[in-house]
Amino acid sequence: MDYFRIQGGRRLNGRVTVEGAKNAALPLMAASLLTTGRLRLTNVGPLADIRNLGTLLDRLGVNVHFGDDDTITMQASDESCSEAPYDIVKTMRASICVLGPMLARRKRAVVSMPGGCAFGTRPIDLHLKGLAKLGARIELEGGNVVASCDRLRGATVFLGGANGPTVLGTANVMSAATLAEGRTVIESAACEPEIVDLANMLNRMGARIRGAGSPRIVIDGVEALGGCEHRVMPDRIVAGTYAIAAAMTNGDVILDDFPYDSLLAAINHLEEVGVHVQKLDPNADDLRCSVRVTSDRVLRPTILTTQPHPGFPTDLQAQFMALLSIAEGNSIVTEKIYTERFLHVAELSRMGAQVYRQGSTAVISGVRALHGAPVMASDLRASASLVLAGLAAHGETVISRVYHLDRGYSNMERVLTALGASIERCKETKAEPAEDSVPSIIPAIRGAGLTARAARDT
Ligand code: EPZ
Repeated sequence: MDYFRIQGGRRLNGRVTVEGAKNAALPLMAASLLTTGRLRLTNVGPLADIRNLGTLLDRLGVNVHFGDDDTITMQASDESCSEAPYDIVKTMRASICVLGPMLARRKRAVVSMPGGCAFGTRPIDLHLKGLAKLGARIELEGGNVVASCDRLRGATVFLGGANGPTVLGTANVMSAATLAEGRTVIESAACEPEIVDLANMLNRMGARIRGAGSPRIVIDGVEALGGCEHRVMPDRIVAGTYAIAAAMTNGDVILDDFPYDSLLAAINHLEEVGVHVQKLDPNADDLRCSVRVTSDRVLRPTILTTQPHPGFPTDLQAQFMALLSIAEGNSIVTEKIYTERFLHVAELSRMGAQVYRQGSTAVISGVRALHGAPVMASDLRASASLVLAGLAAHGETVISRVYHLDRGYSNMERVLTALGASIERCKETKAEPAEDSVPSIIPAIRGAGLTARAARDT
């Protein structure tokens, strides 16, 4: 397995382009199951999760071709199979996004229960409740969801849960409803930008969706959908991660294809702590623009609570905690979406961070500087948090198990090296496998040795 070796203390300077959004691309890819038309996605990063879903779709009778220029072309040719094989689904929780499209088109779908992940249980009760409301018969057999239906029928579906709406649950129900008979209203839908991106593409395929991005989405079912071409939206979490990297090193970085409009809550908190995110062209389109990120020498503390969109995204919580660990003063971070999402705390503490966790809240007492140390990545965003800490720390940081990062960041070490960081990807020489590794089912993708437990974070 690969590890990163980082020499900290270098200011980041330069210009990079934000890659396409993993969390938009996955449900967009799953939409290839809704049609036999040709679907072509552009601006798709070479991520392990993307390759993994491509392998799953291939097993479900979709011809999947990865182009050299960040494009994927998909076209369903054999619709006889409706079982998502466990050996693939167990390595990536987000595989659940094939459930709704496959059920709507093929009238049957068998997908293994995704189980938990590194930061807690990841239930799908809201997905199943929504699809059942549309007329699906849902059984749980041997760890699998077995769903079947005649033609789905439009209905009013409430998708709110104790921790807010469900993003992939909204994607599943919205996608399925495009082929249902009649009108579906989703109340308490997820408002995330990735849902808007999916609705935009589905409408381009012939669907009739209104209200995506708001808590109420209205879908009028149609007989069939066709193919289309779609550019995946920029990844707001990757964009936020690199903005924080610039801030933590007191650097001066320009980010192109920055989804400003999708990051207003994060930008608000960044400005609060002394980080400046300035649009190069004040009149540029907020969906994709270029910004310059700089920061005050001394960062200030803040009080942060993660919320469903448009609130502060849970996927940036770990990265922001790394930044607060070197702010001057005490900050408070409360995690409302995944109350166990604090695996980064113990590792940041090994680097000298002063973090005191009580349940779903952590108090961070800022220190003047972190110090490099050997640390271990545990899930996708916690891993990113450790990289950021390593960039700012004095001395050397070695981060093991960086395959977690490869699931959500394309060639992170190359991007950071281009900005002046001292970071290298190294190959572990030890022969023995990691204690919880499983043979990777993904064709030889560098550093993508996913493990069953670890790979369910998305
Ligand atoms: C998506 O996961 C993202 N993954 C996650 O990003 C992100 O953290 C999450 O949304 C929240 O924003 C992808 O899009 C592939 P949820 P998803 O269903 O859809 C509870 C990353 O790092 N819930 O919105 O699976 C759930 O426990 C990943 O890129 C139910 O109770 O998340 C959580 O507390 C990690 N019942 C809350 O809702 C359900 O049926 C939000 O979960 C579904 C969810």
